[in-house]
Amino acid sequence: MLLLLPTFVVVLVSLFVRYSQAVYVSSLNRRMGRRGLGEECSTPYSPDENEVMRATFARTKSRRDGASSQGYEFNVNVNVVATNMTYDGGWVPDSQIEDQMTALNAGYKGTNISFNLISVKRILAPVIFETLNLPDSPEQERMGSDFGTLFRSGDGTTLNINLIGFSTDDETYGFGLPPTLYTEFPQFDGVYIRFNSLPGGSSKVRQGSTVTHEVGHWLGLWHTFQDGCSGDGDGISDTPAEASAASGCPSKRDSCPDQPGLDPIHNWMDYSDEGCRDSFTPGQITKMNEAAAFRISLPTSVTARGAKP
Ligand SMILES: *[C@@H]1O[C@H](CO)[C@@H](O)[C@H](O)[C@H]1NC(C)=O
Ligand SMILES: *[C@@H]1O[C@H](CO)[C@@H](O)[C@H](O)[C@H]1NC(C)=O
Repeated sequence: MLLLLPTFVVVLVSLFVRYSQAVYVSSLNRRMGRRGLGEECSTPYSPDENEVMRATFARTKSRRDGASSQGYEFNVNVNVVATNMTYDGGWVPDSQIEDQMTALNAGYKGTNISFNLISVKRILAPVIFETLNLPDSPEQERMGSDFGTLFRSGDGTTLNINLIGFSTDDETYGFGLPPTLYTEFPQFDGVYIRFNSLPGGSSKVRQGSTVTHEVGHWLGLWHTFQDGCSGDGDGISDTPAEASAASGCPSKRDSCPDQPGLDPIHNWMDYSDEGCRDSFTPGQITKMNEAAAFRISLPTSVTARGAKP
């Protein structure tokens, strides 16, 4: 009896932990899945969301109104969230934001998609700076939702780049919300970026490519290594299958030898080193154009600027 008691207590506690996790999952979490921990990007892969995207884009594709022949230009709001008014506190200089816009547009050259900075907002909010991430709990969802309600601007065609600290998370550099989430979670729409990853920033790992990568998620792309060697992968037929995220710049990496092609280590949607990632495939570009067509079709797009004159 005395020996059994401690075991019993441990089982009860672990059941409680499991149970509470199952019950207190956030609603965004329920739709997207839990974020990956200890990874460059905390955008999770959601097969269900992939299906939603497929069906949604198939519907809005036919509603392309000629904008695509001239390309899509998205307005951009940058929200600088800082803990104090020093660089280390997140107060990035305007020059880095301008250089980031140049890097972003260079990354999307040849895709029909471009970005135009229209505003920079500066917000002192230590808790958001330190703890905001893809919501994994109702508390975080409430915090993210309040933040978006107060500071997100524009509609579904407006790219909000939120610069934050991720200070309670050593590895994550950013995350981006898929376009189809806009209908249910408009206040979260945008990308969330570690402030020191901008060009000229203090990060030794990233110097601008994080924004290009996260905007890929914002335009419907998944990671190239999604689903590993089997399965649907990232849902794009011309990105070779990849068993896991690449690091460094391993030019001959072939982690799925039974599948065609070497690993897409130069793709923006992999995790390879800065300078190694430099391209999207034609299949990814087509999907991003579909996502752009979906975004300009959103009913709230009163100030949509889909067609660039
Ligand atoms: C990009 O625009 C050109 C015309 O400028 C068009 O022919 C092409 O289909 C567009 N590309 C995509 C992927 O929509
Ligand atoms: C500003 O915040 C950063 C990051 O938390 C901290 O390292 C730095 O000491 C702070 N500076 C001031 C002047 O408070």
